[in-house]
Amino acid sequence: MAFLDIRHLQKSFGALRVVQDFTLGIEKGEFVSFLGPSGCGKTTVLRMVAGFETPTSGAVSIDGHDITGLPANRRKIGMVFQAYALFPNLTVADNIGFGLRVAGQGKAEIARRVGEMLELIGLPQLGSRYPFQLSGGQQQRVALARALAPRPQVLLLDEPLSALDAKIRVSLREEIRRIQRDLGITTIFVTHDQEEALSMSDRVVVMHQGIADQVGTPFEIYNRPATRFVAEFVGTLNLIDADLVDAAAGHVRLGGVPVTLGRPAPGRAGERISLALRPETVALGRDGGDIVLPGRIAEVHFLGPVLRVRVAVEGGGFISLDTFNQADRPPPSVGAPVDISMSHRDLLVLAA
Ligand SMILES: Nc1ncnc2c1ncn2[C@@H]1O[C@H](COP(=O)(O)OP(=O)(O)OP(=O)(O)O)[C@@H](O)[C@H]1O
Ligand SMILES: [Mg+2]
Repeated sequence: MAFLDIRHLQKSFGALRVVQDFTLGIEKGEFVSFLGPSGCGKTTVLRMVAGFETPTSGAVSIDGHDITGLPANRRKIGMVFQAYALFPNLTVADNIGFGLRVAGQGKAEIARRVGEMLELIGLPQLGSRYPFQLSGGQQQRVALARALAPRPQVLLLDEPLSALDAKIRVSLREEIRRIQRDLGITTIFVTHDQEEALSMSDRVVVMHQGIADQVGTPFEIYNRPATRFVAEFVGTLNLIDADLVDAAAGHVRLGGVPVTLGRPAPGRAGERISLALRPETVALGRDGGDIVLPGRIAEVHFLGPVLRVRVAVEGGGFISLDTFNQADRPPPSVGAPVDISMSHRDLLVLAA
């Protein structure tokens, strides 16, 4: 059994079932993200793990102990929320020491632990400030310190960075991961930001309508999406229509060009299927792989380090590709004829 074991969790609010059948094992010290669109049930699963919500059915255990029936305050779980949830009338130090005071620890011990936590989050001078005297990023660090002070077995973070601006988000996500590694604490991090999930996590759970669509390393999730939903939600994706010539042999026609996928495709000969393709696997010119398609430049978006180019393919449809910016080579002009190329290995055959 995994350290944090979530088994067949379901949750209904009245007739609405928002968590279908959620099963996941998390190893000790692992950092797992829940990634999914608004309303897919991320917070509800987290609240059931924390004990703020009672599951309709299913069980949660930590280190072999079933905690499904335990009240939240006896679970040894620390939680950080999206909105700043610090006590406004308490100093930073008293916020961090709150859980320790509730647990009845002595003054000296609390002061020692608070000092340690302030060091950990890099704010050793700010113990006597009040929350309103802190920036948003500092407040979330204090919230993290408050959650960690009582030495929880599991840390739950519910979109802790979403209210912060872009620069702070990136630096704070690195800091959260560093602290999590230092402490070796088992962590679930909820986000709907795919870059956050991919960059921080040991594993990512992609959630969709109350179920886990796919669980895997960031590399697996991005490169081998199991479902169309995962492929479309994580990263940018081209969906290309192809005519199926021989399903078992994986022969298709792409814009009239015969292509061998090298693996079976679902469906019957004569049907149209959708293939998926990441923009960074397509090249301008003929040197990007065994499949070459003629087309015309339809749009060019200059994003700084990367150019995103949309090409109208001769046989119909559009393919977007990413190419690195090169200062000595101006972007291609709209309307210009081009060949684009790709490898059949990068074409993803997706389940519905
Ligand atoms: N107490 C409740 N009563 C009724 N419905 C609820 C309750 N809490 C959540 N829901 C519903 O359950 C669904 C899942 O909500 P949840 O908060 O878990 O989503 P989420 O994935 O965290 O979304 P977001 O990314 O917006 O935070 C939503 O449709 C929501 O309206
Ligand atoms: Mg939520």
